[in-house]
Amino acid sequence: MFEIVILVLVLTVQAAWLMIPAYISNPMAVVLGGGKPIDFGKNWIDGERILGDGKTIRGLTGGTICGIIAGIIQMQISPLNTLFVSPPLIAVITLSFGALFGDIVKSFFKRRMRFRRGAPLLLIDQLDFVLGAWVLTYIFDPVWFIDNFTVITMLVILVITPVLHRLTNILGYHVKLKKEPW
Ligand code: CTP
Ligand code: MG
Repeated sequence: MFEIVILVLVLTVQAAWLMIPAYISNPMAVVLGGGKPIDFGKNWIDGERILGDGKTIRGLTGGTICGIIAGIIQMQISPLNTLFVSPPLIAVITLSFGALFGDIVKSFFKRRMRFRRGAPLLLIDQLDFVLGAWVLTYIFDPVWFIDNFTVITMLVILVITPVLHRLTNILGYHVKLKKEPW
């Protein structure tokens, strides 16, 4: 029993470790966001905004850079132990940028469905950035992705991410960084 608890704990920590660039870039976009929207305020052919004011250039670039910095720190730490793998730089970049790219793609479809900015979409709001990070990483480094993101690791991530996401957003809401606690 004790061994199983330890095994699950190690698996969870290792899964979270792989996602750190995405786990940093996503909330840092909220912290650093504001200013010019990525769609420059323009509308799509349906008359709705392409992405909306919630997706800004500063959020995208600032968030991506923070995620990459976190990943570079991971690359320095991992050779010191056997528990954590060292992500290649390309994966660090695709995990950070992919997370925000996934969030942008979601907003694009949210606007097409005429959801106002900030309207909640259960699970999609929590997992958009995970899917974006995975897809871009798979495209740019499929060998590393398949080696490290096993089915069990991905399942762990799908379970822990909405919980972590919810906790950070409640925190973000209380420190007044976010307008909604989701
Ligand atoms: N943010 C940003 N740039 C990004 C992502 C997020 O500036 N690329 C900032 C915005 O201030 C945004 C806040 O973080 O309002 C929260 O992000 P999110 O929940 O993803 O956006 P919403 O405002 O909820 O918009 P949407 O309905 O399009 O998801
Ligand atoms: Mg939102």
